[in-house]
Amino acid sequence: MSYQNLKFEIKNKIAYVTINRPDKLNALNMATMEELRAAFTAIRDDKDVRVAILTGEGQKAFVAGADIGELSKHTTVSAKEYTHKGQAVLDLIENLGKPVIACINGFALGGGCELAMAGDIMIASDNAKFGQPEVNLGLIPGYGGSQRTTRLVGRGMAMYLCLTGEIVDAAEALRIGLVQKVVPQADLLTEAKRIANLIAGKAPLAIAACKRVINDGAHLATPDALELEAAAFGDLVTTSDFKEGTGAFLEKRKPEWTST
Ligand code: COA
Repeated sequence: MSYQNLKFEIKNKIAYVTINRPDKLNALNMATMEELRAAFTAIRDDKDVRVAILTGEGQKAFVAGADIGELSKHTTVSAKEYTHKGQAVLDLIENLGKPVIACINGFALGGGCELAMAGDIMIASDNAKFGQPEVNLGLIPGYGGSQRTTRLVGRGMAMYLCLTGEIVDAAEALRIGLVQKVVPQADLLTEAKRIANLIAGKAPLAIAACKRVINDGAHLATPDALELEAAAFGDLVTTSDFKEGTGAFLEKRKPEWTST
């Protein structure tokens, strides 16, 4: 597949997805969403890819939101279909079976903030800016922002961001727990690669299970979520990778994972 709105590359077990519409601050039009769906489906199905890094082209924006030109033309029916399609792409990222590091290199507004939140770890450059400014347009978040924001930063801060539309800087995003790290812009990709390589060196089935139980458990009552954890823990001890991991520790050597 050739991409018009993305750069997509796989190198040393890491997939790099870069939204590439810098003249429009990487705003998400439907064509870009369709390409994101194709790229992340390819990442999900490629056994050699262990981690994905998602970022935006240029130094100004990760994604400055949904494409407002396209948004302005919706009817009730098409708007609902539009949110369902977009939500499905973000669900694909959230349930990918492998970790996604969102690398926020500038504005992450509206759909951009929502897209980043569908990833598992968010790293921001020091010039990054975050917000859910849909209320300025007579809208609310439509790609899961009203729900993922609450789960990530809590009800009060989600209300604050979605009701005021205020744009917050990287330091504030770190303080409220929206992002996990802030680094100088020049170091952003290096830091994302370091974390991706760290994860890519771990047992693949354990990484997949970890992502799954954290995500799925968040929607369950604590006793059910703990049961989910216990079931995954039980399944993992039957894998060759568990034998390899424990064996390598006891033999003081590096483990060789087979994903079995
Ligand atoms: N949709 C479509 N185009 C967008 C866009 C969006 N969400 N965000 C930026 N752009 C376009 C601008 O229209 C402009 O295009 P043009 O040069 O053809 O006129 C280009 O990207 C550069 O943006 P500009 O507004 O000139 O940059 P700025 O530095 O002055 O302001 C922002 C940056 C992010 C503050 C401003 O672009 C903005 O508010 N964008 C919309 C954010 C938003 O509401 N997102 C949520 C949408 S649901």
